[in-house]
Amino acid sequence: MKITVIGAGNVGATTAQRIADKALANEVVLVDVVEGIPQGKALDMFEATPVEKSDVRVIGTNGYDETANSDLVVITAGIARKPGMSRDDLMNTNSAIVKSCAEQAVAKSPNAIFIVVSNPLDVMAWVAMKATGLPRHRVIGMAGVLDAARFRSFIALELNVSVEDVNAFVLGGHGDSMVPLARYSTVAGIPITELMDAPTLERLITRTRNGGIEIVNHLKTGSAYYAPSSATVAMVESIVKDKKRILPCSVHLEGEYGLKGVFVGVPVKLGKKGMEQIIQIKLNPDEATALGKSAADVESSIAKVKL
Ligand code: NAI
Ligand code: 2OP
Repeated sequence: MKITVIGAGNVGATTAQRIADKALANEVVLVDVVEGIPQGKALDMFEATPVEKSDVRVIGTNGYDETANSDLVVITAGIARKPGMSRDDLMNTNSAIVKSCAEQAVAKSPNAIFIVVSNPLDVMAWVAMKATGLPRHRVIGMAGVLDAARFRSFIALELNVSVEDVNAFVLGGHGDSMVPLARYSTVAGIPITELMDAPTLERLITRTRNGGIEIVNHLKTGSAYYAPSSATVAMVESIVKDKKRILPCSVHLEGEYGLKGVFVGVPVKLGKKGMEQIIQIKLNPDEATALGKSAADVESSIAKVKL
């Protein structure tokens, strides 16, 4: 198993570190345009492997030769948000970056599965699919696992229960119109709607929607990366171990949920082939409207992309 992580910044480096610590691959290749950064971080990570007892070669590079024949490619390259910036503000810069990274990576690893992390996420996943020309089951965007993890953390905090027992579902685009689904969110199987009143639930949903900007406002110089890298690695693990977990991921819809030609977050099965199934759940009219609006927001952003 060989995994390439493109972008050796906060998300990319932490993702590579988590992959190495968990020994999810024999080889991890970290790529960045800045000379010295991927090489230095990769060497530092490799030097941790004897202590972590994980037999993983981690190498850093500014090119793509070393990435050849990767099984999985994670794209985190691009710029991150600063206070006052929306994810869409990143669009023009990151479209060009993601396009170029995806083209170069697929040329060396034509059989790889791609996980896209760069923002605005759903649009960048679309850019990567266009740039690689890969079928939709091999280009998957990470956002729902992160958004659901934030929702789960806030629910656990509110109810003073273990995060382990909290499950939550978030559909839609990774943006202000994401759709946290209270009905499908549970604590040890009990719907959260039975454990908290409507205003409390609404407060947690709003905090989840604003989860990204809450961190940006604290950090001021960048955006979240610990939870994003954990979420990315949960997807990596399900694919490399063929676990077939059902996770909310951004995938190209071709009629599912009544949507076509747009990347949006829905529950999918992740296994060794990538996205192996889209799970279609019944939405009530409010949820269906919210998902439709979220998809329309992504669609209008895609229409602005100049490739
Ligand atoms: P960062 O600024 O720490 O790292 C980005 C790295 O990309 C930098 O090291 C930069 O040199 C590199 N880079 C730029 N152009 C490149 C190219 N052409 N080839 C290779 N590397 C290149 O940013 P951070 O915090 O790691 O975030 C990365 C991206 O992930 C951002 O777009 C951010 O908004 C997004 N993100 C998405 C999340 C999601 O839920 N989908 C969660 C967190 C971040
Ligand atoms: C987040 O949600 C920046 O999209 C990133 O933290």
